[in-house]
Amino acid sequence: MSQGAISSAITADGGSAGLSQVGMRIADGEVDTTHGPILYLDGITVSFDGFKALNGLSLTIDDGELRCIIGPNGAGKTTMMDVITGKTRPDSGTVFFGQSIDVSRMSEAEIAHAGIGRKFQKPTVFEQHTVFENFELAMKADKRVRAAARARLSSEDTDRIAEVLDLVHLRAHAHRMAGLLSHGQKQWLEIGMLLMQEPRLLLLDEPVAGMTDEETVRTAELCLALAGAHSVVVVEHDMDFVSRIASKVTVLHEGSVLAEGTMDVVQNDPRVIEVYLGR
Ligand SMILES: Nc1ncnc2c1ncn2[C@@H]1O[C@H](COP(=O)(O)OP(=O)(O)OP(=O)(O)O)[C@@H](O)[C@H]1O
Ligand SMILES: [Mg+2]
Repeated sequence: MSQGAISSAITADGGSAGLSQVGMRIADGEVDTTHGPILYLDGITVSFDGFKALNGLSLTIDDGELRCIIGPNGAGKTTMMDVITGKTRPDSGTVFFGQSIDVSRMSEAEIAHAGIGRKFQKPTVFEQHTVFENFELAMKADKRVRAAARARLSSEDTDRIAEVLDLVHLRAHAHRMAGLLSHGQKQWLEIGMLLMQEPRLLLLDEPVAGMTDEETVRTAELCLALAGAHSVVVVEHDMDFVSRIASKVTVLHEGSVLAEGTMDVVQNDPRVIEVYLGR
């Protein structure tokens, strides 16, 4: 794939498309979290042919928080991420990123650029390129000025790549083809690529699905390391993983919040046991 094709592939995927139209309306670092929360969902309803995948969902995530979202298949977890990232428009309700950014008025690309990064379940990395090149491409895809995609990396850029290579345990594989990595390593690579764009909020949908036990433990460590500097929302069914990282857990059921609290509180909630954990 040529450099141009790669840039447009990244762009088509929701990277930096339409930035010139967005202009400087949403400058980096402008997410207003002075009152605490980085994300507010209020009364979100999404219907598919009359079926309510989300039904009056309200949720608040604090800045720097690591939140786990659990719940049975079909509870609406992925749909919630689709709404936050602009992939699905809610029938009603509001989504705010910080106090002042009304996500419902923005395109997917604008939302990504405002600082919400999302990892889908299936890793999407450039298999024919090295790990380092994948990071480089992810970084360039984020540059506001398209011409920068041809510019050389600055020393700060290479430092940043080195930092993220360490964080996602891929330093020893920096010059391997991404296609040769294990499934778990590809997942880390994709998280690393998201980090190159310095998101304030990261959404991870089932990040440890298909990982070995060791990879799962390392991913838990990674999530813990990311929290604080980033706000992280993780959807997972793997309860060992969730209990390793959980501070606050939200249980979704039939499109709204069934329970919320510490792992201990939700695990012992009879309604949660009935619809999910007891199965
Ligand atoms: N594009 C769509 N068209 C029609 N129905 C949909 C669509 N997307 C999701 N749904 C339905 O909405 C409900 C919620 O789906 P969603 O994928 O959000 O669940 P989930 O909590 O992520 O489940 P899982 O744990 O299996 O990933 C499901 O019943 C699903 O079939
Ligand atoms: Mg899902």
